[in-house]
Amino acid sequence: MIYEKTITVIDAACRGYYLEPMKQSSQSMSLLAKTSSGLEPVLADELQRLGAEEIVTGKRLVRFRGDRETLYRVNLGCRTAIRILLPVSQFHARNRRELYNAVRRVDFGQYMSPKSTLAVDAITFGEPFANSLFAAQITKDAIVDQFRDKHGVRPDVDLKNPDSRINIHITGHEATLSIDTSGESLSHRGYRTRGGGKAPLSEVLAAGMVLLSGWNGDKPLVDGMCGSGTIAIEAALIASRIAPGLLRSHYAFEHFADLDTELLDRVRNELKARVTIPAQPTVFAFDISGKQVELARANARRAGVAEHIAFTAQPFEQSQAPGESGTIVMNPPYGERLKPHDLEDLYSRIGDTLKQNYQGFTAWILTGNLQAAKRIGLKTSRKIKLYNGPTECRLLKFELYQGSRKG
Ligand SMILES: C[S@@+](CC[C@H](N)C(=O)[O-])C[C@H]1O[C@@H](n2cnc3c(N)ncnc32)[C@H](O)[C@@H]1O
Repeated sequence: MIYEKTITVIDAACRGYYLEPMKQSSQSMSLLAKTSSGLEPVLADELQRLGAEEIVTGKRLVRFRGDRETLYRVNLGCRTAIRILLPVSQFHARNRRELYNAVRRVDFGQYMSPKSTLAVDAITFGEPFANSLFAAQITKDAIVDQFRDKHGVRPDVDLKNPDSRINIHITGHEATLSIDTSGESLSHRGYRTRGGGKAPLSEVLAAGMVLLSGWNGDKPLVDGMCGSGTIAIEAALIASRIAPGLLRSHYAFEHFADLDTELLDRVRNELKARVTIPAQPTVFAFDISGKQVELARANARRAGVAEHIAFTAQPFEQSQAPGESGTIVMNPPYGERLKPHDLEDLYSRIGDTLKQNYQGFTAWILTGNLQAAKRIGLKTSRKIKLYNGPTECRLLKFELYQGSRKG
């Protein structure tokens, strides 16, 4: 049992963070899911549905406990987690030597082989490890030296596409070393070609927006400015109950010495059994650019949901509601490429279209330009702060009933 050793991890209780020695066992591990700011409650809800226990939300992360089965299931099933970390050691390090020695004490043979390629992610705050690259370098040296001394070979570093990722988080002298059980970001579902689309949202953010909207697939969902189709595809995956992990073939935990392939197959088959294909498309995606629609359709095909999305190349302004009620989740341009007055006109036309063509719907609009968003001219019933990459945005909710127009 590879987790059976006493380690010290940070555990977060409702009354605050404290240090507590605890036993990591394959029965129950303390785990941590990372996410994008603002999506923590949605992720906590997902984790709970996937069998996680003792769930506590933090800043851009959710802590929880679970056994090996839960670890596999949350990696495959979470739509709003970026990665799942397994903390394996917490220690004090005042200098390079202390950091190196503490990292070396962890038995990395449990989590990777000398043939695995490796990358270290370091997040550091304050002295003496203010330089995160320095901390990453020391951590990496301690790991590869351990393998070289034990096996005579050392893992190669691959910063782009490593088999195994190690995460070191240091605030002042307090360090937490975690094994990244996911490997490549869980946001990379694999259906989108990188570099495609005008300003594509991350899959995690798109799924998070749909989940925040509360849409459950019963009524139509419209993305009137779909770009590469991320919101529409994530919505179709949610409606079809297709777990993101069913689109992905590889996780870092598959390099763990205690990998239970039978258990993993069982988790995968369980998730497959949940797939429910909607009788007819409930997701509608438009874009003014025919090229974007083609790209979105190709992405949807790769995700296996092209038949569940009705794509149309048309301006949102010319679209009609595909039902009496439903949900709009949309990510219009923020203005990087548009002149300010063109952008304000666009948002004003969005407001008119919502008011005239979508009465009975609830709209959720993600924007990084609050000035332009004022031109929508509708009362917001909720504002949620989210980040699209480094850009601070608001997800604005509008209830489109008669008389919702401002002044
Ligand atoms: C920020 S991008 C959307 C990115 C998308 N969420 C994704 O993940 O790829 C905005 C999109 O709005 C489209 N667009 C701009 N004006 C439009 C209009 N009036 N009607 C429909 N689409 C429009 C652009 O072609 C662009 O694809």
